[in-house]
Amino acid sequence: MYEALKQSGIIGRLSIENRVVMPAMGVNLAGPHGDVSDDIIAFYEARARGGVGLIITEVTRIDGGAGISDPCQLSAYRLSDVAGLSRLAEAVHAWGTKIFIQLQHPGASASPLITGSEAVAPSAGFSPGGTPVRALSLEECAKIEQKFITSAQFSQMAGADGVELHAAHGYLINNFLSPAMNDRSDAYGGNFENRMRFLLNIVAGIRKRCGDFPISVRINATEMLPGGIDLPQAVEMAKALERAGVDAINVSRYDEGCIEPGTWPQGAKRNLTQNIMEAVTIPVIGVSNIKEPAVAEALLSEGICDFVGIGRGLLADPHWVRKTLNGQEDIIRKCIGCLTCFEEIVSLRRVACAVNPLCGRERFFNHPSRVKSAGKDVAVIGGGPAGIEAALVLKRRGFDVHLFDDQKILGGTLNVADKGYGKEKITRYTESLVAQVTQAGIILHRAHPATPQAIRGLAPCGIFIACGARPLIPDIPGIDDPRVVCAEAILTGKKTVAGQVVVVGTGMTGLETAEVLAMVGCTLTLVEMLPAPGPGVYPSVVKDVLSHIEPHRPKMLLEHKLVAIDQEGVVLRSLKEGVRVHVPAQAIVLALGVRPRLEVAKTFSKAFPDIPVIPVGDALQGGRILEATRSAHGRAFTFTPQGEEV
Ligand SMILES: Cc1cc2nc3c(=O)[nH]c(=O)nc-3n(C[C@H](O)[C@H](O)[C@H](O)COP(=O)(O)O)c2cc1C
Repeated sequence: MYEALKQSGIIGRLSIENRVVMPAMGVNLAGPHGDVSDDIIAFYEARARGGVGLIITEVTRIDGGAGISDPCQLSAYRLSDVAGLSRLAEAVHAWGTKIFIQLQHPGASASPLITGSEAVAPSAGFSPGGTPVRALSLEECAKIEQKFITSAQFSQMAGADGVELHAAHGYLINNFLSPAMNDRSDAYGGNFENRMRFLLNIVAGIRKRCGDFPISVRINATEMLPGGIDLPQAVEMAKALERAGVDAINVSRYDEGCIEPGTWPQGAKRNLTQNIMEAVTIPVIGVSNIKEPAVAEALLSEGICDFVGIGRGLLADPHWVRKTLNGQEDIIRKCIGCLTCFEEIVSLRRVACAVNPLCGRERFFNHPSRVKSAGKDVAVIGGGPAGIEAALVLKRRGFDVHLFDDQKILGGTLNVADKGYGKEKITRYTESLVAQVTQAGIILHRAHPATPQAIRGLAPCGIFIACGARPLIPDIPGIDDPRVVCAEAILTGKKTVAGQVVVVGTGMTGLETAEVLAMVGCTLTLVEMLPAPGPGVYPSVVKDVLSHIEPHRPKMLLEHKLVAIDQEGVVLRSLKEGVRVHVPAQAIVLALGVRPRLEVAKTFSKAFPDIPVIPVGDALQGGRILEATRSAHGRAFTFTPQGEEV
């Protein structure tokens, strides 16, 4: 099984234990001045321990000021960085994993809010965020080349196994390479050779100063900008890099397919990688929205790439590789492509993962304390993501865990969320949760409504309430009309509607329901109180789901509030103009969010006044999967039965 994945591989003079590479991911876990922190060591150490062959660190500073990308990002440009990076390299090496430092300057994409200075690039203009960008002088170009070279030298001194030059994603080296971003007419622009000069000078400088120290270069094989790098140009770039002595090419893209939303297929960058692979003889690293081992194995065995990059997959489960190679793939926690990880970073918070509450918090939650009263029973009411998370942590801590769910199938709201278009990745996540529950030996009580009477016989020392929330139904005239349906009922197929349908609320559930209805031919009107659809949903996820709905020409009424339902349809109030608007409808679908089922916790607290009753997940506060798993994990990790010392 997985013969290709488990084979060792070579990059330059370096031997790598298997074919899985963790590509660079900004995690915002370093110190505020770029120092290596205990948290970032624990983050990478967990992935090394999980068996990945090569880790490429997050974007790492080669300079201060305009060279800063993220507020708490690694840095490799000061002599004092060497000691910290050497600690990091040691922690990773202890597990047999190799480590490259990804050297980056944000160039035109720098945010003055973060850097405190003006962004710089080969050409003046504006950043993707709309702030002004200053053109670098020839002297400055040469200085920054030297900074890259020095950072490579410091990485080598620290004991890293190589560097990756970040020449993609709209950052400085990419600004030089792309015809759409570089309109210089001196030695650094005007033609292919000149646009390559900045990067090739850096490569030559590293070779001169660091000998055969391995160098990977990350490039875009396509760009969203008109006139930007396309695949034929990327192929020429890869060939030129091979001629210059680069040891590996890591293929990416600069558009919405850079970090694919959940509905995109696995293997999404396959075609791009394959074209680069056919053009060079040096190893090619291919990221491709890979979640499952079989997809990674196929990409390798079909010769699409030499190494597979698994990014978000390793945020979701640091042990992806070890589980794959040990025949335990059923318990891999699979990434669902929700982009919470990226959303957290761009919101300047630390990395987080919806399905892995330990991500970025490895140090804090590393060793769950085993309870003294091991073997005591705990009841968990509700087998959705929060209930399962709590059950797994409690079990690891030595409790005997009884998990109750009133349905036959575990998963709770995941069994609704996976019914939207292209949501199979959520089904895979649910399946892995069920496999983990079984493997852990949690005692299951399925199709079993958990009443206080039902669990009294267990004499539990604690009860976790994870029974979720119920849809929010506004108290307005006409709400009891039989044409009114909840979005969940549509998604699960319990109800069907046709003809003119009004969907009220455009959060994720509303949009996904609209998508399903559009595809069965309904004529849709979407109603949202806020000025933009998809409140609280990450913009590229909104864009993705809207791209499936828009071809069906829905009517979108933003800044409108539902005030009543009458014989013909719905009555709305325009929040801008204050006027009433009538929309005819044969069905009205409500997707207005959820309200925690607080009464369940109250009932259990009353019935069990002497033990802790702890609501988690949506039963405490409606939110994303991240909030559900996080609250469950934290409370289960710290749960202390009454009478025991904390
Ligand atoms: C949270 C996050 C941060 C990222 N930061 C970087 C980065 O620092 N440098 C980089 O080259 N790519 C970065 N990427 C892109 C990843 O390296 C990778 O190409 C992308 O996630 C697609 O691979 P995947 O589908 O396996 O996740 C980041 C992606 C994510 C999700």
